[in-house]
Amino acid sequence: MTRRTVRIAMNGVTGRMGYRQHLVRSLLAIREQGGLDLGGGETVWPEPVLVGRREDALRDIARRHGLTEWSTDLDSVLDATGSGRVDIYFDAQVTPARPAALKRAIAAGKHIYAEKPTATDLAGALELARLADEAGVRHGVVQDKIFLPGLRKLKRLVDSGFFGRVLSVRGEFGYWVFEGDWQEAQRPSWNYRAEDGGGITVDMFPHWDYLLHELFGRVTSVFAQTATHVPQRWDERGAPYRATADDAAYAVFQLDGGIVAQINSSWAVRVARQELVEFQVDGVLGSAVAGLRHCRAQHRSATPRPVWNPDQPTTEPFGDQWQEIPDNDEFDNGFKAQWELFLRHVALGEPYRWDLLAGARGVQLAELALRSSAEGRRLNVPELTL
Ligand SMILES: NC(=O)c1ccc[n+]([C@@H]2O[C@H](COP(=O)([O-])OP(=O)(O)OC[C@H]3O[C@@H](n4cnc5c(N)ncnc54)[C@H](O)[C@@H]3O)[C@@H](O)[C@H]2O)c1
Repeated sequence: MTRRTVRIAMNGVTGRMGYRQHLVRSLLAIREQGGLDLGGGETVWPEPVLVGRREDALRDIARRHGLTEWSTDLDSVLDATGSGRVDIYFDAQVTPARPAALKRAIAAGKHIYAEKPTATDLAGALELARLADEAGVRHGVVQDKIFLPGLRKLKRLVDSGFFGRVLSVRGEFGYWVFEGDWQEAQRPSWNYRAEDGGGITVDMFPHWDYLLHELFGRVTSVFAQTATHVPQRWDERGAPYRATADDAAYAVFQLDGGIVAQINSSWAVRVARQELVEFQVDGVLGSAVAGLRHCRAQHRSATPRPVWNPDQPTTEPFGDQWQEIPDNDEFDNGFKAQWELFLRHVALGEPYRWDLLAGARGVQLAELALRSSAEGRRLNVPELTL
Protein backbone atom coordinates (compact mmCIF):
# COMPACT_ATOMS: atom_id res chain seq x y z
CA MET A 1 0.00 0.00 0.00
CA THR A 2 1.50 3.36 -0.96
CA ARG A 3 0.42 6.43 0.95
CA ARG A 4 0.26 9.76 -0.83
CA THR A 5 0.27 12.67 1.64
CA VAL A 6 -1.81 15.66 0.55
CA ARG A 7 -1.10 18.75 2.62
CA ILE A 8 -4.09 21.02 3.14
CA ALA A 9 -3.96 24.57 4.53
CA MET A 10 -7.22 24.97 6.47
CA ASN A 11 -8.19 28.59 7.10
CA GLY A 12 -11.10 29.43 9.40
CA VAL A 13 -10.67 26.19 11.28
CA THR A 14 -11.66 27.75 14.61
CA GLY A 15 -15.16 28.45 13.24
CA ARG A 16 -18.28 26.28 13.45
CA MET A 17 -17.99 24.83 9.96
CA GLY A 18 -14.20 24.77 9.68
CA TYR A 19 -13.73 22.90 12.93
CA ARG A 20 -16.65 20.53 13.27
CA GLN A 21 -17.63 19.63 9.71
CA HIS A 22 -14.41 20.05 7.76
CA LEU A 23 -11.65 19.21 10.21
CA VAL A 24 -13.21 16.74 12.65
CA ARG A 25 -16.03 15.13 10.66
CA SER A 26 -14.22 15.13 7.30
CA LEU A 27 -10.41 15.17 7.21
CA LEU A 28 -9.77 13.66 10.64
CA ALA A 29 -12.49 11.09 9.97
CA ILE A 30 -10.72 10.15 6.71
CA ARG A 31 -7.48 9.69 8.69
CA GLU A 32 -9.31 7.55 11.25
CA GLN A 33 -10.40 5.21 8.47
CA GLY A 34 -6.75 4.88 7.39
CA GLY A 35 -6.82 7.52 4.66
CA LEU A 36 -8.80 7.69 1.43
CA ASP A 37 -8.51 4.46 -0.53
CA LEU A 38 -7.87 5.29 -4.19
CA GLY A 39 -7.82 1.63 -5.21
CA GLY A 40 -4.81 -0.11 -6.73
CA GLY A 41 -3.04 -0.17 -3.37
CA GLU A 42 -2.87 3.61 -3.04
CA THR A 43 -4.29 5.87 -0.31
CA VAL A 44 -4.46 9.62 0.16
CA TRP A 45 -3.46 10.83 3.60
CA PRO A 46 -4.75 14.36 4.32
CA GLU A 47 -2.34 16.41 6.42
CA PRO A 48 -4.03 19.56 7.77
CA VAL A 49 -2.00 22.72 8.33
CA LEU A 50 -4.19 24.89 10.53
CA VAL A 51 -4.34 28.59 9.60
CA GLY A 52 -6.08 31.37 11.50
CA ARG A 53 -5.73 34.59 13.40
CA ARG A 54 -5.40 33.33 16.98
CA GLU A 55 -2.34 31.25 17.69
CA ASP A 56 -3.55 29.95 21.06
CA ALA A 57 -6.82 28.67 19.52
CA LEU A 58 -4.94 26.94 16.69
CA ARG A 59 -2.42 25.39 19.06
CA ASP A 60 -5.24 24.14 21.23
CA ILE A 61 -7.05 22.47 18.30
CA ALA A 62 -3.78 20.93 17.06
CA ARG A 63 -2.98 19.55 20.52
CA ARG A 64 -6.47 18.11 20.97
CA HIS A 65 -6.24 16.20 17.69
CA GLY A 66 -2.58 15.24 17.58
CA LEU A 67 -1.75 17.65 14.74
CA THR A 68 1.61 19.34 14.54
CA GLU A 69 1.33 22.22 12.11
CA TRP A 70 -0.41 25.57 12.51
CA SER A 71 0.29 29.15 11.53
CA THR A 72 -1.14 32.67 11.80
CA ASP A 73 0.75 33.68 8.64
CA LEU A 74 -1.15 32.63 5.52
CA ASP A 75 1.51 33.97 3.15
CA SER A 76 4.28 31.89 4.67
CA VAL A 77 2.07 28.77 4.49
CA LEU A 78 1.26 29.41 0.82
CA ASP A 79 4.87 30.23 -0.07
CA ALA A 80 6.45 27.29 1.77
CA THR A 81 8.49 24.94 -0.41
CA GLY A 82 9.98 21.47 -0.02
CA SER A 83 8.39 19.30 2.65
CA GLY A 84 6.45 22.33 3.99
CA ARG A 85 4.64 22.87 0.69
CA VAL A 86 0.83 22.64 0.81
CA ASP A 87 -1.14 21.18 -2.11
CA ILE A 88 -4.65 22.47 -1.31
CA TYR A 89 -5.94 25.70 0.22
CA PHE A 90 -9.28 25.33 2.03
CA ASP A 91 -11.27 28.34 3.24
CA ALA A 92 -14.11 28.42 5.81
CA GLN A 93 -13.53 31.96 7.03
CA VAL A 94 -16.33 34.50 7.31
CA THR A 95 -17.44 35.20 3.74
CA PRO A 96 -15.99 38.72 3.24
CA ALA A 97 -12.49 37.45 4.14
CA ARG A 98 -12.64 34.64 1.55
CA PRO A 99 -12.07 36.20 -1.92
CA ALA A 100 -8.72 37.86 -1.07
CA ALA A 101 -7.41 34.66 0.54
CA LEU A 102 -8.58 32.51 -2.38
CA LYS A 103 -6.92 34.84 -4.89
CA ARG A 104 -3.71 34.68 -2.93
CA ALA A 105 -3.85 30.86 -2.88
CA ILE A 106 -4.65 30.63 -6.61
CA ALA A 107 -1.68 32.92 -7.37
CA ALA A 108 0.48 30.54 -5.32
CA GLY A 109 -0.71 27.65 -7.54
CA LYS A 110 -2.73 25.80 -4.88
CA HIS A 111 -5.79 23.69 -5.58
CA ILE A 112 -8.81 25.38 -4.01
CA TYR A 113 -11.64 24.09 -1.89
CA ALA A 114 -13.99 26.64 -0.31
CA GLU A 115 -17.13 27.08 1.69
CA LYS A 116 -20.07 28.85 0.10
CA PRO A 117 -20.74 31.64 -0.70
CA THR A 118 -17.39 31.97 -2.48
CA ALA A 119 -17.59 35.77 -2.59
CA THR A 120 -19.86 38.60 -1.54
CA ASP A 121 -20.91 39.46 -5.11
CA LEU A 122 -21.21 37.77 -8.50
CA ALA A 123 -18.36 39.73 -10.11
CA GLY A 124 -16.02 38.59 -7.34
CA ALA A 125 -17.21 34.97 -7.56
CA LEU A 126 -16.75 34.86 -11.34
CA GLU A 127 -13.31 36.42 -11.07
CA LEU A 128 -12.25 33.62 -8.72
CA ALA A 129 -13.53 30.95 -11.13
CA ARG A 130 -11.71 32.59 -14.05
CA LEU A 131 -8.44 33.04 -12.14
CA ALA A 132 -8.47 29.41 -10.97
CA ASP A 133 -9.07 28.13 -14.51
CA GLU A 134 -6.33 30.36 -15.90
CA ALA A 135 -3.91 29.13 -13.22
CA GLY A 136 -4.79 25.53 -14.10
CA VAL A 137 -5.54 24.58 -10.48
CA ARG A 138 -8.35 22.24 -9.46
CA HIS A 139 -11.21 23.81 -7.54
CA GLY A 140 -14.29 22.87 -5.58
CA VAL A 141 -17.01 24.54 -3.54
CA VAL A 142 -18.94 22.98 -0.66
CA GLN A 143 -22.38 21.77 -1.79
CA ASP A 144 -23.00 19.46 1.13
CA LYS A 145 -26.79 19.20 1.03
CA ILE A 146 -26.90 16.95 -2.04
CA PHE A 147 -24.85 14.40 -0.11
CA LEU A 148 -27.37 14.17 2.75
CA PRO A 149 -29.32 10.91 3.12
CA GLY A 150 -32.81 12.41 2.67
CA LEU A 151 -31.83 14.24 -0.49
CA ARG A 152 -29.92 11.30 -1.92
CA LYS A 153 -33.06 9.21 -1.49
CA LEU A 154 -35.05 11.96 -3.20
CA LYS A 155 -32.53 11.90 -6.06
CA ARG A 156 -33.01 8.15 -6.29
CA LEU A 157 -36.77 8.73 -6.74
CA VAL A 158 -36.14 11.36 -9.42
CA ASP A 159 -33.71 9.09 -11.30
CA SER A 160 -36.10 6.14 -11.13
CA GLY A 161 -38.84 8.12 -12.87
CA PHE A 162 -41.06 7.83 -9.79
CA PHE A 163 -42.55 11.33 -10.19
CA GLY A 164 -43.31 11.21 -13.91
CA ARG A 165 -43.48 14.88 -14.87
CA VAL A 166 -42.45 17.00 -11.87
CA LEU A 167 -44.88 19.86 -11.33
CA SER A 168 -43.69 21.72 -8.27
CA VAL A 169 -41.29 21.77 -5.34
CA ARG A 170 -42.07 23.35 -1.99
CA GLY A 171 -39.29 23.83 0.54
CA GLU A 172 -39.48 24.94 4.16
CA PHE A 173 -36.23 25.74 5.89
CA GLY A 174 -35.76 27.34 9.25
CA TYR A 175 -35.97 27.43 12.99
CA TRP A 176 -35.99 30.00 15.74
CA VAL A 177 -32.57 31.57 16.31
CA PHE A 178 -32.58 33.07 19.76
CA GLU A 179 -32.10 36.80 19.96
CA GLY A 180 -29.23 36.41 22.42
CA ASP A 181 -30.62 38.34 25.41
CA TRP A 182 -32.44 35.82 27.58
CA GLN A 183 -31.05 32.77 25.76
CA GLU A 184 -27.75 32.63 23.88
CA ALA A 185 -28.06 32.81 20.07
CA GLN A 186 -27.15 29.52 18.38
CA ARG A 187 -25.56 31.20 15.33
CA PRO A 188 -22.66 33.70 15.17
CA SER A 189 -23.81 37.35 15.30
CA TRP A 190 -22.15 38.28 11.96
CA ASN A 191 -24.96 36.33 10.26
CA TYR A 192 -27.36 39.14 11.19
CA ARG A 193 -25.18 42.06 9.98
CA ALA A 194 -25.22 42.71 6.22
CA GLU A 195 -21.96 44.68 6.47
CA ASP A 196 -20.22 41.51 7.78
CA GLY A 197 -21.53 39.22 5.01
CA GLY A 198 -24.64 38.11 6.92
CA GLY A 199 -28.22 37.48 5.79
CA ILE A 200 -30.28 34.35 5.19
CA THR A 201 -30.47 34.98 1.43
CA VAL A 202 -26.69 34.97 0.89
CA ASP A 203 -26.41 32.06 3.32
CA MET A 204 -29.11 29.74 1.96
CA PHE A 205 -29.73 30.62 -1.70
CA PRO A 206 -26.40 29.11 -2.81
CA HIS A 207 -27.74 25.83 -1.35
CA TRP A 208 -31.11 26.22 -3.07
CA ASP A 209 -29.37 26.90 -6.39
CA TYR A 210 -27.37 23.67 -6.54
CA LEU A 211 -30.12 21.58 -4.92
CA LEU A 212 -32.74 22.62 -7.47
CA HIS A 213 -30.23 22.40 -10.32
CA GLU A 214 -28.94 18.94 -9.41
CA LEU A 215 -32.36 17.45 -8.69
CA PHE A 216 -34.75 19.14 -11.11
CA GLY A 217 -33.15 21.64 -13.48
CA ARG A 218 -31.46 25.01 -13.76
CA VAL A 219 -33.13 27.96 -12.03
CA THR A 220 -34.29 30.37 -14.76
CA SER A 221 -36.03 33.09 -12.72
CA VAL A 222 -36.50 34.24 -9.14
CA PHE A 223 -38.97 36.35 -7.23
CA ALA A 224 -38.13 36.93 -3.58
CA GLN A 225 -39.51 38.88 -0.66
CA THR A 226 -36.99 39.25 2.14
CA ALA A 227 -37.57 40.52 5.67
CA THR A 228 -35.72 41.39 8.83
CA HIS A 229 -38.29 40.16 11.31
CA VAL A 230 -36.11 40.52 14.43
CA PRO A 231 -34.48 43.97 14.24
CA GLN A 232 -32.40 43.80 17.41
CA ARG A 233 -30.18 41.00 18.65
CA TRP A 234 -27.46 40.48 21.26
CA ASP A 235 -23.95 39.40 20.27
CA GLU A 236 -21.43 36.91 21.72
CA ARG A 237 -20.44 39.43 24.46
CA GLY A 238 -24.07 40.13 25.37
CA ALA A 239 -24.06 43.58 23.71
CA PRO A 240 -27.17 44.63 21.76
CA TYR A 241 -26.79 45.34 18.04
CA ARG A 242 -29.05 46.25 15.15
CA ALA A 243 -29.81 43.39 12.75
CA THR A 244 -29.06 44.91 9.34
CA ALA A 245 -29.39 41.68 7.34
CA ASP A 246 -32.47 39.73 6.26
CA ASP A 247 -33.49 36.88 8.57
CA ALA A 248 -36.22 35.50 6.27
CA ALA A 249 -36.68 35.12 2.51
CA TYR A 250 -39.81 33.90 0.74
CA ALA A 251 -38.99 32.97 -2.84
CA VAL A 252 -40.56 31.55 -5.99
CA PHE A 253 -38.28 30.08 -8.66
CA GLN A 254 -38.95 28.87 -12.19
CA LEU A 255 -36.84 25.96 -13.37
CA ASP A 256 -35.96 24.57 -16.75
CA GLY A 257 -38.83 22.40 -17.95
CA GLY A 258 -41.52 24.61 -16.37
CA ILE A 259 -41.21 23.33 -12.79
CA VAL A 260 -42.22 25.87 -10.12
CA ALA A 261 -40.29 25.85 -6.85
CA GLN A 262 -41.08 27.91 -3.79
CA ILE A 263 -38.83 27.93 -0.77
CA ASN A 264 -39.30 29.71 2.53
CA SER A 265 -36.11 30.32 4.51
CA SER A 266 -36.34 31.76 7.99
CA TRP A 267 -34.44 32.13 11.24
CA ALA A 268 -37.62 33.51 12.80
CA VAL A 269 -39.94 30.54 12.56
CA ARG A 270 -40.76 27.75 15.02
CA VAL A 271 -40.48 24.19 13.76
CA ALA A 272 -43.68 22.19 13.17
CA ARG A 273 -42.00 19.87 10.66
CA GLN A 274 -40.19 16.60 11.15
CA GLU A 275 -36.86 18.13 10.09
CA LEU A 276 -35.25 21.59 9.91
CA VAL A 277 -35.55 21.53 6.15
CA GLU A 278 -38.16 19.68 4.12
CA PHE A 279 -38.97 19.65 0.42
CA GLN A 280 -42.25 18.39 -0.97
CA VAL A 281 -42.12 17.36 -4.61
CA ASP A 282 -45.33 16.77 -6.51
CA GLY A 283 -45.29 14.92 -9.79
CA VAL A 284 -48.00 13.46 -11.98
CA LEU A 285 -47.20 9.89 -10.89
CA GLY A 286 -46.27 10.47 -7.28
CA SER A 287 -45.13 12.84 -4.56
CA ALA A 288 -42.41 12.82 -1.92
CA VAL A 289 -41.29 14.77 1.12
CA ALA A 290 -37.56 14.77 1.79
CA GLY A 291 -35.61 16.17 4.70
CA LEU A 292 -32.00 15.88 5.82
CA ARG A 293 -32.30 12.20 6.80
CA HIS A 294 -35.70 10.90 5.76
CA CYS A 295 -37.70 10.73 2.60
CA ARG A 296 -41.27 9.50 2.32
CA ALA A 297 -43.31 9.05 -0.79
CA GLN A 298 -46.87 8.55 -2.00
CA HIS A 299 -47.55 6.86 -5.31
CA ARG A 300 -50.60 7.90 -7.31
CA SER A 301 -52.11 4.46 -6.74
CA ALA A 302 -52.00 5.15 -2.98
CA THR A 303 -53.29 8.72 -3.16
CA PRO A 304 -56.36 9.37 -0.95
CA ARG A 305 -59.36 11.21 -2.36
CA PRO A 306 -60.14 14.04 0.06
CA VAL A 307 -63.33 16.01 -0.52
CA TRP A 308 -63.40 19.56 0.78
CA ASN A 309 -66.07 19.88 3.44
CA PRO A 310 -65.41 22.32 6.30
CA ASP A 311 -68.50 21.03 8.13
CA GLN A 312 -66.91 17.64 8.72
CA PRO A 313 -63.86 16.82 10.89
CA THR A 314 -60.85 15.48 8.97
CA THR A 315 -61.21 11.71 8.71
CA GLU A 316 -58.06 10.82 6.82
CA PRO A 317 -54.73 10.42 8.70
CA PHE A 318 -52.90 12.25 5.91
CA GLY A 319 -49.56 12.25 7.67
CA ASP A 320 -49.60 8.45 7.98
CA GLN A 321 -50.33 7.79 4.32
CA TRP A 322 -46.72 8.09 3.15
CA GLN A 323 -44.21 5.32 2.72
CA GLU A 324 -40.71 5.68 4.17
CA ILE A 325 -38.00 5.27 1.52
CA PRO A 326 -35.43 2.76 2.83
CA ASP A 327 -31.76 3.68 3.09
CA ASN A 328 -30.58 0.75 0.90
CA ASP A 329 -27.15 2.29 1.29
CA GLU A 330 -24.68 3.58 3.85
CA PHE A 331 -24.65 7.33 4.16
CA ASP A 332 -21.51 9.04 5.34
CA ASN A 333 -21.31 12.63 6.60
CA GLY A 334 -22.18 14.87 3.61
CA PHE A 335 -19.16 17.13 4.03
CA LYS A 336 -16.83 14.13 4.23
CA ALA A 337 -18.40 12.51 1.17
CA GLN A 338 -17.78 15.67 -0.85
CA TRP A 339 -14.21 16.04 0.49
CA GLU A 340 -13.46 12.49 -0.64
CA LEU A 341 -14.63 13.24 -4.16
CA PHE A 342 -12.57 16.44 -4.19
CA LEU A 343 -9.45 14.60 -2.99
CA ARG A 344 -9.97 12.04 -5.77
CA HIS A 345 -10.33 14.92 -8.23
CA VAL A 346 -7.00 16.35 -7.03
CA ALA A 347 -5.20 13.00 -6.86
CA LEU A 348 -6.59 11.28 -9.96
CA GLY A 349 -8.11 14.05 -12.05
CA GLU A 350 -11.58 12.47 -11.78
CA PRO A 351 -14.35 14.79 -13.01
CA TYR A 352 -15.79 17.18 -10.42
CA ARG A 353 -18.61 19.56 -11.31
CA TRP A 354 -19.09 21.40 -7.99
CA ASP A 355 -16.46 23.98 -8.84
CA LEU A 356 -15.99 27.75 -8.50
CA LEU A 357 -18.29 28.38 -11.49
CA ALA A 358 -21.02 26.35 -9.76
CA GLY A 359 -20.24 28.37 -6.62
CA ALA A 360 -20.68 31.58 -8.63
CA ARG A 361 -24.16 30.40 -9.70
CA GLY A 362 -25.12 30.28 -6.03
CA VAL A 363 -23.83 33.79 -5.43
CA GLN A 364 -25.69 34.95 -8.54
CA LEU A 365 -28.99 33.53 -7.30
CA ALA A 366 -28.59 35.19 -3.88
CA GLU A 367 -27.70 38.51 -5.49
CA LEU A 368 -30.67 38.39 -7.87
CA ALA A 369 -33.03 37.39 -5.03
CA LEU A 370 -31.99 40.41 -2.97
CA ARG A 371 -32.43 42.64 -6.02
CA SER A 372 -35.81 41.07 -6.76
CA SER A 373 -36.95 41.88 -3.24
CA ALA A 374 -35.62 45.44 -3.36
CA GLU A 375 -37.25 46.11 -6.75
CA GLY A 376 -40.43 44.12 -6.11
CA ARG A 377 -40.25 42.14 -9.35
CA ARG A 378 -39.33 38.77 -10.82
CA LEU A 379 -35.87 38.56 -12.37
CA ASN A 380 -34.46 36.19 -14.97
CA VAL A 381 -31.35 34.23 -14.03
CA PRO A 382 -28.94 34.36 -16.98
CA GLU A 383 -26.84 31.27 -17.62
CA LEU A 384 -23.27 31.89 -16.44
CA THR A 385 -20.18 31.34 -18.52
CA LEU A 386 -16.62 32.42 -17.91
N1 LIG B 1 -22.10 24.58 4.00
C1 LIG B 1 -22.90 24.95 4.99
O1 LIG B 1 -23.90 24.32 5.26
C2 LIG B 1 -22.55 26.16 5.81
C3 LIG B 1 -23.20 26.36 7.02
C4 LIG B 1 -22.86 27.48 7.79
C5 LIG B 1 -21.90 28.37 7.34
N2 LIG B 1 -21.29 28.16 6.14
C6 LIG B 1 -20.28 29.11 5.62
O2 LIG B 1 -19.05 28.88 6.31
C7 LIG B 1 -18.39 30.12 6.57
C8 LIG B 1 -18.08 30.19 8.08
O3 LIG B 1 -19.29 30.15 8.81
P1 LIG B 1 -19.33 29.69 10.35
O4 LIG B 1 -20.77 29.53 10.68
O5 LIG B 1 -18.37 28.61 10.55
O6 LIG B 1 -18.80 31.04 11.05
P2 LIG B 1 -17.93 31.20 12.38
O7 LIG B 1 -18.15 32.61 12.82
O8 LIG B 1 -18.20 30.11 13.34
O9 LIG B 1 -16.42 31.01 11.88
C9 LIG B 1 -15.79 31.96 11.07
C10 LIG B 1 -14.29 31.69 10.96
O10 LIG B 1 -13.70 32.80 10.29
C11 LIG B 1 -12.77 33.46 11.18
N3 LIG B 1 -12.98 34.91 11.07
C12 LIG B 1 -13.91 35.63 11.70
N4 LIG B 1 -13.80 36.94 11.35
C13 LIG B 1 -12.78 37.01 10.50
C14 LIG B 1 -12.18 38.07 9.80
N5 LIG B 1 -12.62 39.31 9.91
N6 LIG B 1 -11.15 37.77 9.00
C15 LIG B 1 -10.70 36.50 8.88
N7 LIG B 1 -11.26 35.43 9.53
C16 LIG B 1 -12.28 35.69 10.33
C17 LIG B 1 -13.08 32.99 12.57
O11 LIG B 1 -11.92 33.06 13.37
C18 LIG B 1 -13.58 31.58 12.32
O12 LIG B 1 -12.49 30.70 12.20
C19 LIG B 1 -19.29 31.22 6.07
O13 LIG B 1 -18.85 31.67 4.82
C20 LIG B 1 -20.65 30.54 5.92
O14 LIG B 1 -21.40 31.10 4.85
C21 LIG B 1 -21.60 27.08 5.39
